[in-house]
Amino acid sequence: MAILETVVIAFWAMLPAYVPNNAAVLAGGGRPIDGGRTWGDRRVLGDGKTWRGTAMGTLAGVALAAVLTVIEPTVSDALGFAVPSFEPLAALGLAGGAMLGDILASFLKRRSGRQRGAMFPGLDQLDFVVVSLPLTALLATEWFQTWFTLEVILVVVVLTPILHVTTNVIAYKLGLKNEPW
Ligand code: CTP
Ligand code: MG
Repeated sequence: MAILETVVIAFWAMLPAYVPNNAAVLAGGGRPIDGGRTWGDRRVLGDGKTWRGTAMGTLAGVALAAVLTVIEPTVSDALGFAVPSFEPLAALGLAGGAMLGDILASFLKRRSGRQRGAMFPGLDQLDFVVVSLPLTALLATEWFQTWFTLEVILVVVVLTPILHVTTNVIAYKLGLKNEPW
């Protein structure tokens, strides 16, 4: 598989996992998932993880997967190679897994004494990959095996932190996010 082809497939396949966090930033707010509860003297998750943000983020990722699936034949045709269409369970695994990974990251941040918004290099950039890929493999095994080859996974692990840093700096400059990470 040509490298450019692998990069395009990796990016396309991960779009439903990339969008939820950004959608959550725009749609977040309201009641925090942990309901304000603490564990020890620290919040379980913090005010940055809300029900609305999580639901809207997951919904945005699944909706994007549906749109990509509709345009997939046209795009594959134009590119000259096939990009994935998304089974419903694959879409749910990617989008829901991204949100779960982000929540898990906040849990780990709070346990390690980091305040809301604190930086956690590495975790911040890859939290959603770490959960969305295994969850998708679990929910849509055949689909996952077809598209997430070792090469694609490698590209995802390299590409994701770069995209994450770039989009967060842009969101910060636009005033959408409080911190550039
Ligand atoms: N957000 C949300 N629900 C989520 C994820 C994000 O409502 N499940 C919203 C919150 O308004 C949050 C913003 O998106 O403040 C930015 O997300 P993120 O950077 O993940 O949260 P932080 O506020 O930085 O908190 P944390 O330190 O826990 O990551
Ligand atoms: Mg943050």
